[in-house]
Amino acid sequence: MALSKVRSLALLGLVGHIVDVEVDISDGLPGYTLLGLPDAALSESRERVRSALVNSGLPWPNKKVTISLSPAWLPKSGSHFDLPIALGLLAAQGVISSEFPESLITMGELGLDGTLRFVRGVLPTLISALNFGATSAIVPTENFQEASAVPGLQIRSFTYLSEVVHFFQSGEVPMQEHVQPADSPTHTLDLTDVVGQIAARRALEISAIGGHHLLLIGPPGTGKTMLAERIPTILPALTAQESLEVSAIHSVAGTLTSRGVLTRIPPFVAPHHTTTTTAMVGGGSHAVKPGAVSLAHAGVLFIDEAPECANGVLDSLRQPLESGSVTISRAVGTVTYPASFLLVLAANPCPCGKFNGRGRACTCSSLQIRNYLKKLSGPLLDRIDIRAFVEAPTRVEMAAAAAGESSEFVKRRVNDAREIAAARFKDERWRINSQIPSSELRARYKAERDGMTLLHNELDSERLSARGFHKVLRVAWSIADAAGHSRPTKNDVEQAIVMREGTFL
Ligand SMILES: Nc1ncnc2c1ncn2[C@@H]1O[C@H](COP(=O)(O)OP(=O)(O)O)[C@@H](O)[C@H]1O
Ligand SMILES: [Mg+2]
Ligand SMILES: [Zn+2]
Repeated sequence: MALSKVRSLALLGLVGHIVDVEVDISDGLPGYTLLGLPDAALSESRERVRSALVNSGLPWPNKKVTISLSPAWLPKSGSHFDLPIALGLLAAQGVISSEFPESLITMGELGLDGTLRFVRGVLPTLISALNFGATSAIVPTENFQEASAVPGLQIRSFTYLSEVVHFFQSGEVPMQEHVQPADSPTHTLDLTDVVGQIAARRALEISAIGGHHLLLIGPPGTGKTMLAERIPTILPALTAQESLEVSAIHSVAGTLTSRGVLTRIPPFVAPHHTTTTTAMVGGGSHAVKPGAVSLAHAGVLFIDEAPECANGVLDSLRQPLESGSVTISRAVGTVTYPASFLLVLAANPCPCGKFNGRGRACTCSSLQIRNYLKKLSGPLLDRIDIRAFVEAPTRVEMAAAAAGESSEFVKRRVNDAREIAAARFKDERWRINSQIPSSELRARYKAERDGMTLLHNELDSERLSARGFHKVLRVAWSIADAAGHSRPTKNDVEQAIVMREGTFL
C-alpha cells in the first residue's frame, strides 16, 4: 500500500491537538511535499528523515512523496514529527505494517545517523493524548522519565530509529536501563548561610506565608541575592497538580531535567535585568514559548537589580500579576500559559549603591536617590506588599558563632501558618492571604476594630492608597497567622504598614 497514517499531536500552549500524519507515495517525478502549516524546524524534517532512513539501512522512496499533517489549519511546529513521518514513509513502502492503532502516539526528532533525539513538550502532549483516548506512546529514550510521569499510558522508549522499526516488525523491545531520578531532590541552599538580616528574614517568612510580593533594598554585597535564592527552601511543597503544571511548562520550554520531572520544589527563576519583554512574558514568531513569568509559575520570579531593567520589561509583569496567567497573541494563534508567581525584586538604594539612610559613604544627590527607585514604575511598586531594607551585617553579627535559623525550621512555621489560613478558607475559592478579594476583606475578613480604625485613619490622611489599604490588610492576616491570632490585631496591622512602607523609604 502506498498510503499510511500515523498519529501524533501538536501543542498550542499546553494543550495538545490530534494531528494525523498521512504519507502518500505515488509514481511520478521524485519530490517531497509537506502540507499543513509547518514551521521551519518541521519543514527541515525532510533532510533529517532522509538521512536517518538511509543511515539506518532503511529505504528512502525515490518517488513522489506527499505528506499531509491534518487538520491543515492547525499551526504545527518543532521536530517531534520526524518519527511519525519516518514511520509513515516506511509503512507506505511496506517495510512495516501500515496498521497503526489510533491509540498509539509517536514522537521524536531524528538525528542524521538515525538516533532518536530528545524533544520538547512531551509531558503536556501525552497528557492531552490520554484525554483523547491514547493508551501507549513511543518516545526517545531521553524523554522516557518525563513520559512516564503521565499516569495510565504505556511508554516505550528507543534510542535508534532502527530499534523502533524492529519493534514494529517483531514486537521486541530492546533492553534498556532507565536511571531513576532521586525521588525528592534536596535543596543545596539554606537560610543558615545568611548571617544577621533579622528584618529581611522576617519579611521573607511573612511573604512566604501569604504569597506577598517582596522588594529587597540594600547596598551591594549585603545578601539580597542570597536571601531571595533561599525563598523556595521555605515555601510549602508543590501540590501534585501544581507539580504537573510546572513540569508541563518547563517541558515546553525545554528546561525540564529528568530530576525536575514532577519535582515538589517550587521553581526559582531569575531573569537578568538585560532580559527582553519577550523572554519575560513569552513569545516567539512560530512556536510561542513560555517566558520567565510562566517558568516561575507556582514559585518565585526574582529580578535582581530591578531598576536597571529596560523600559517596558517590568511593566509587562502587570498582566500576569493581575490575572495569574499570560496570553500571547501571534499570527499563529493565541496561547495562554499559567503565570502565578511570587515576585521578588532586589534593588540598590541609589545609583552608587552605598546609601544606607544616613548617607555617609553615598555620593548621590537626594534627587538622584529619589529618582532611582522611581524607575520601578508606580503601578508595579504599588503591587509590592513588603519592602525590606537589607543592611550590611555588622562585625559582631559576622563574628557571632550562632548560625541563623535553618530553612527547615522556618518552613515549619510557614506551613503551620498556611494550614491556619487553609482551614479558614476551606469553603472559599482562594487558599492564601494574598488572594483574598478586596470586597471580602471589607466584608468578612476585617482586622480587629482598633486595627481597622488605624487603617481608616491612614486612608483619610492619604498615607495609604485604596490598593495599599487592601494589601496591608492581607499582610496583616499573614502576620496574625504567624502569631496565632484569630484575627489581625492593631499591632499586626501596624507591623503590616511598616512592612509595606519599608522602614527606610
Ligand atoms: N548576610 C550575609 N551573610 C553571609 N554572607 C553574606 C551576607 N551578605 C553577603 N554575604 C556574602 O557576600 C556575597 C554576595 O552577597 P549577595 O547576596 O550577592 O549580595 P547582594 O545581592 O546584596 O549584592 C555572598 O555570596 C556571601 O558570600
Ligand atoms: Mg545581588
Ligand atoms: Zn549613592
